Amino acid sequence: MDSKRISRRSFMGRAAGATGGMLAGRTIRLEASAPDTTPARPVPPSDTIRFGIIGVGMRGSGLLRDAISLPGVQCVAACELYTGRQELARQIVDKPIQVTGRYQELLENKDIDCIIAPMPDHWHQRIVLECCQAGKDVYVEKPMTHEVAQGFPMIEAAKKHNRIVQVGSQEPSSVIYQKARELLRQGAIGDVCLVESSLGRNSPCGAWNYTVPPDLSPKTVDWETWLGPAPRRPFSAQRFTRWRNWQDYGEGASGDLFIHSLTGIHYALDVTAPPKRAATMGGLFHWKEGRDVPDVITTLYEYPNFRATLRVTLNTSDDEIYRFMGTRGIMEIHGIENPSGFTIWPQDGKNDSPCTPAWPQPMSSTYAKRWHAEHDTQPGEAKPIEAAGYYAPPNYNDTREHLWNFFQSVRTRRPSVEDAEFGNNAAIACHMANYSYFNNALAVWNAEERKLTSA
Ligand SMILES: NC(=O)c1ccc[n+]([C@@H]2O[C@H](COP(=O)([O-])OP(=O)(O)OC[C@H]3O[C@@H](n4cnc5c(N)ncnc54)[C@H](O)[C@@H]3O)[C@@H](O)[C@H]2O)c1
Repeated sequence: MDSKRISRRSFMGRAAGATGGMLAGRTIRLEASAPDTTPARPVPPSDTIRFGIIGVGMRGSGLLRDAISLPGVQCVAACELYTGRQELARQIVDKPIQVTGRYQELLENKDIDCIIAPMPDHWHQRIVLECCQAGKDVYVEKPMTHEVAQGFPMIEAAKKHNRIVQVGSQEPSSVIYQKARELLRQGAIGDVCLVESSLGRNSPCGAWNYTVPPDLSPKTVDWETWLGPAPRRPFSAQRFTRWRNWQDYGEGASGDLFIHSLTGIHYALDVTAPPKRAATMGGLFHWKEGRDVPDVITTLYEYPNFRATLRVTLNTSDDEIYRFMGTRGIMEIHGIENPSGFTIWPQDGKNDSPCTPAWPQPMSSTYAKRWHAEHDTQPGEAKPIEAAGYYAPPNYNDTREHLWNFFQSVRTRRPSVEDAEFGNNAAIACHMANYSYFNNALAVWNAEERKLTSA
């Protein structure tokens, strides 16, 4: 839990401050659902899921650690193009596994039930199609696609080959989003008309300028394979390490960060299609070292029943926050990439005094008298409006929960919590933000033709 954020937004302090003591508060701790590393009963080998991982970089190394911490799950192979990370995979698993630079070997390996694929975004479509064709279920990282046109063939491949495809923005597996969605469906804050999300970072690491490993060279990296479907260019240690900065491989802040907000919004509000329109403004103001994506981006989305505004800056550190704003209050989720909890601030949507602007006397005072007689609470009758804070347990890890859900789907053949259709809708929304920015126009989703147009 981010103690700085929680203390600043101190739940009880804010509750009392906001209404002079009329707002009461409850805090509720949510429980993780994935099992502990050591289960009560050992999992028989026949029930064990054997996975291979393709890409053991920043995300892959974390996913690998989390996956092998789950009971009944075993890593049997890792594929990496950089020798340093081949070594890292061996270090993490700490047992004999197949390590290779050719992912095709994992797809051909009959001992492997499923694949985890935390590869850069330009690889997502190709790896999902090949996994499905090879009969492997696949956990692919977010955003599901690098371009709008890529998503529909991925959905079709999953259906045709009867494969589980789970996309890796972990919000739908988070106890925080699950509870938030349940409460939103129950009308805890009335009708949601507007959602805001904002996130700010202010460091080279936050702006994706990760330190380049000193041994990176064409000798330690299979650069041609890494480029995959991207345009050919000479080896670049910068591009290998900081690929998010270039549209050839990533989508900038939209694909890296908006996608978490979009996934959370789609999940919490049961959105099953891309937004109708999106308008973006942004700019590249600070990180002018050669990237071709903006470092400030704000997008306004039009969904049928609500609007959403998303904002990311890589130039100023700021709270990560979502605000679902309804006719009966605000639900505020703390944290976008790793949410720690949420708070509901209720509102009753009623007048708190007679609403009679510029009425003449005695009409105004007669009405006011009647209004107070009908509406004022009598001494002892006042009921506090109850605000509620919901928090994840300490060290909560929603990615581990997401992996658990994936392996459960692989085991049971139950649909994944974040399937290709869901992933495609969220990814299209993220591409709409960039389409609007780079075309300097309103992005319009044409559902019939499955493409974006401008207005
Ligand atoms: N869900 C989340 O919260 C979250 C967080 C971070 C990253 N991600 C996603 O994870 C993915 C990976 O991001 P990252 O930061 O780990 O990138 P990274 O560059 O650190 O790691 C990617 C690794 O994939 C390897 N790779 C690329 N092509 C390969 C191939 N054909 N065969 C084998 N290995 C290959 C590279 O060598 C590299 O080591 C991205 O899609 C990113 O958006 C998700």
